[in-house]
Amino acid sequence: MAKKLWGGRFSKKTNPLVEEFTSSISVDKELAFYDVIGSILHIAVLKEAGLVSKVEYSKIDRALKEIKKSIESGNFKVDDKSEDIHSDIQNKLENKIGKVAMKLHTARSRNDQVVFDVKFYSGQSCADVVTLIAELAKTILNFSNKVKKINIPGYTHLQHAQPVSLANYFLSYYEMLMRDGNRIVSFGDRIKLSLGSGALAGTVIDVSKYNKAITSACKKLGLKFGEQIFSVDNSIDNVSDRDFVIEALSALAIIGMHLSRLAEDLIIWSTSEFGFIELDDAFCTGSSLMPQKKNPDVLELIRGNTGKLYGNLMSVLVMMKGLPLAYNRDMQLDKEPLFSSFKIIKDELKILSKLIPKIKINESNINEQLKDESLYATDIAHYLVTKGIAFKEAHKIIGNLVRFSLNNKIKIKDMTNEQLNKFSQFLNQKIINKLMDPVYSVKSKKSIRKKQ
Ligand code: ARG
Repeated sequence: MAKKLWGGRFSKKTNPLVEEFTSSISVDKELAFYDVIGSILHIAVLKEAGLVSKVEYSKIDRALKEIKKSIESGNFKVDDKSEDIHSDIQNKLENKIGKVAMKLHTARSRNDQVVFDVKFYSGQSCADVVTLIAELAKTILNFSNKVKKINIPGYTHLQHAQPVSLANYFLSYYEMLMRDGNRIVSFGDRIKLSLGSGALAGTVIDVSKYNKAITSACKKLGLKFGEQIFSVDNSIDNVSDRDFVIEALSALAIIGMHLSRLAEDLIIWSTSEFGFIELDDAFCTGSSLMPQKKNPDVLELIRGNTGKLYGNLMSVLVMMKGLPLAYNRDMQLDKEPLFSSFKIIKDELKILSKLIPKIKINESNINEQLKDESLYATDIAHYLVTKGIAFKEAHKIIGNLVRFSLNNKIKIKDMTNEQLNKFSQFLNQKIINKLMDPVYSVKSKKSIRKKQ
């Protein structure tokens, strides 16, 4: 194990199994950038508080900025033997500038550092997700516009229900994505970055020094945190809670659930049985045994990933339950699920933005299904309502008509006026033909505000 941030109190070397078991470097190396920024801000605070000299500050600040540069250029390599990313960066600093680096850890704790890092990471990742949601929403809007003349059978219980426009179908996902985006934005707005909790009790440095030093250091770094105030409201709360992780995982799980439902419909629609759509070859995979196969694996993985997203949320919810305040090592386990969920959602949003515009619609197969007369039963019942019949009565009349049609294997469209009149004096062939038209049916629905 590389040099630790602790050890003076111990008379024995750590058992290697313990080192391996407690190490988090393989996961939290993702936080390198955020951690080094936290350190750059912290050293500015120490200078402001007079806890390091100007010379010491300059040395440490310069070395930290070199580390930052190496992270940004992709040259940064963690030492796998470091306990975590915080220790790794501290060790690198010591290797660069020697003993003076040890002053950096004045008035700070990894408990404080890790919260800062994870909050910073979450805020940035939120911004990425919002951009990707906006891209997918735009893709869906464009695609809906392209297919706005196409109608499909709408389903409830996966049974034919009523005709709907394909645009109406896709735009439902536009609405879901808008809410998903809002959830992420409002979560991002609640994230409050702070320094100064120490291990749990706060530090000896005045709030005003934190704010002054951090504001000017952020300016120098070109970091824009808006109206963010960096001082801690409550030091114990800041190092103890991971509600922000849970909120992120929950918002991401909801996005995953939406994308999974979309994936499922597209999978069903691309089956030989439905044949409503064809997915582009570039977004499918084949079978090693069956030469004819073209499988919707991308969509299946989007559906399958939902299990991981829910699992990630559950694991942190359960991990946090019952932890005594303040920091406990259990909380180290929040990062793997958090990183995993952000990655899954970013990947899914990216791939769907490319897959959707390439979907081919098989209108003839859809039109075949639109011939199903049951799709128009509700419209016919409503027609009777316009003639003064109570809806419950109309529902029963058309229910009987459908049953008669099915039992006698005679299409409603093929019934004579005499036969139709037995169900209602208002029914005749002309009106049936008019109502059993998907275009007419969709156009007759006036309650939907048009998006385009
Ligand atoms: N790697 C640790 C984590 O992610 C950092 C905090 C360690 N703090 C401590 N008191 N052991 O939670």
